[in-house]
Amino acid sequence: MTPRLLLAVALWAGCAPCGGREVAPAGPSHLRVQCRAFRYPIAVDCSWTQPPAPNSTRPTSFIATYRLGMAAQGESRPCLQPTPETPSCAISDVQMFSSVHYVLNVTAIHPGGVSSTLLPFIPENIIKPDPPEGVCLSHILGKQLQVQWEPPRSWPVPEIFTLKYWIRYKRHGSAHFRQVGPIEDTSFTLRSVRPRAKYCIQVAAQDLLNYGELSDWSLPATFPITPGE
Ligand SMILES: *[C@@H]1O[C@H](CO)[C@@H](O)[C@H](O)[C@H]1NC(C)=O
Ligand SMILES: *[C@@H]1O[C@H](CO)[C@@H](O)[C@H](O)[C@H]1NC(C)=O
Repeated sequence: MTPRLLLAVALWAGCAPCGGREVAPAGPSHLRVQCRAFRYPIAVDCSWTQPPAPNSTRPTSFIATYRLGMAAQGESRPCLQPTPETPSCAISDVQMFSSVHYVLNVTAIHPGGVSSTLLPFIPENIIKPDPPEGVCLSHILGKQLQVQWEPPRSWPVPEIFTLKYWIRYKRHGSAHFRQVGPIEDTSFTLRSVRPRAKYCIQVAAQDLLNYGELSDWSLPATFPITPGE
């Protein structure tokens, strides 16, 4: 074994128990790659991080490519990176409802060599919209509270690729949220709210046809609006 390889094996063995995850394929610089379709069907965005490694093994640049299908002979296309040093890339010709997996191949180039990490995925399965925006609340007719929001701006064509929404709310001091949904509207009226109580409300978005996962919850909106909170 070369000294560099020995060092790598020692470091890898030393680091393995910390993560509490499945042991990564051998190599001290194995990347954690993830892809998400928050602007489906315009693009799939991928990014990667590397476990901490001493300076000598830190990659200097990356080559990101993808192909359709698991067969190694498939045509490989670039996943577009702003610069070779940037740990992210975008696939911009997404084939909808592909019957075969996309396979992303991120190759890290180190001073001492190269290592590739492969990630297979189906675009529909990794849809996760950004949270809805502009959540605002207004009191109507005494005991009713109207919640309004907008689709996430990053979601390209909400008119065609419709989102549905979940609303969760709780009274100040209450431990649990109540959840309603899904609804396709971008507003909802909570009935019989308590007159002087304070409410905290959040909205999340999901693909109408249940592909992928629910967005994160929007920033909480509160009513009545209390400055400084
Ligand atoms: C990495 O490099 C920096 C500056 O070149 C140095 O200060 C640091 O001690 C190095 N870290 C390791 C783990 O070698
Ligand atoms: C991944 O990409 C690298 C660099 O383009 C290439 O050398 C390697 O063969 C690819 N690996 C697979 C499994 O396609």
